[in-house]
Amino acid sequence: MALTGAGISAESGVPTFRDAGGLWRSYRPEELATIGAFERDPRTVWEWYAWRRGFVAECQPNDGHRALARFFLARGTAGIVTQNVDGLHTRAALKEAGDGPPDAALPIEIHGAIARDRCNRCGLRADAEPLGDSLPRCAACGGMRRPDVVLFGEMLDSELLARAHRLAERADLCLVIGTSAVVQPAAGIPLATLHGGGSVIEVNTEATELTGAATVEVRGAAGVVLPALLG
Ligand code: APR
Repeated sequence: MALTGAGISAESGVPTFRDAGGLWRSYRPEELATIGAFERDPRTVWEWYAWRRGFVAECQPNDGHRALARFFLARGTAGIVTQNVDGLHTRAALKEAGDGPPDAALPIEIHGAIARDRCNRCGLRADAEPLGDSLPRCAACGGMRRPDVVLFGEMLDSELLARAHRLAERADLCLVIGTSAVVQPAAGIPLATLHGGGSVIEVNTEATELTGAATVEVRGAAGVVLPALLG
């Protein structure tokens, strides 16, 4: 299996969060990416996500996303768990699968997907629409719609997290790519592989909180390392 973070999308031009130039170096997450901020000032949070949504829509999957997609398509087994909400793993799977069903390369998106909305009251999901003068409302219940991403202070989808942990516990290898491994519960996923007797290979341009526990650390950019490692 693979667990990915913002670093795998860095070479696509999507900003990371905590390393040099990361978003949390310029913006305060507690003002933009928490459920409290959304309830206090939904317009500001919506504008932040609308900006990110537009930015990400212009980015393309890079060689790292595509190598990972090819690897899982060839195996025919789902194995990508991502913290990223940018949708680039899914777009890589569609590019690599040609006309075949890319299910095996579709990620478990444990932090959600920025291209979707979700009703903050009834949970109904819907494709994103351009942000207008009035904030988007749910077609079913009239509740406030919000980006379908996990905000700080919210629980992750328990079913997605359970699927990710089942993959990790059974995996011989967890390939951990481009994450600072500081945000829980995602950071605990590779440890489940180690506890199950498997190995962890970390692909990162820098050392992280996980490096000391990793079986192997590969210091390099995902877009260079993954095609070399996975073919
Ligand atoms: N190749 C590999 N690794 C890279 C690259 C690259 N080209 N560029 C940067 N990195 C590494 C950085 O060294 C860093 O360790 O990617 C990691 C990015 O870490 P973060 O910015 O903290 O991103 P991430 O770990 O995904 O954050 C987890 O925090 O803010 C929340 O919800 C957000 O999903 C996100 C979560």
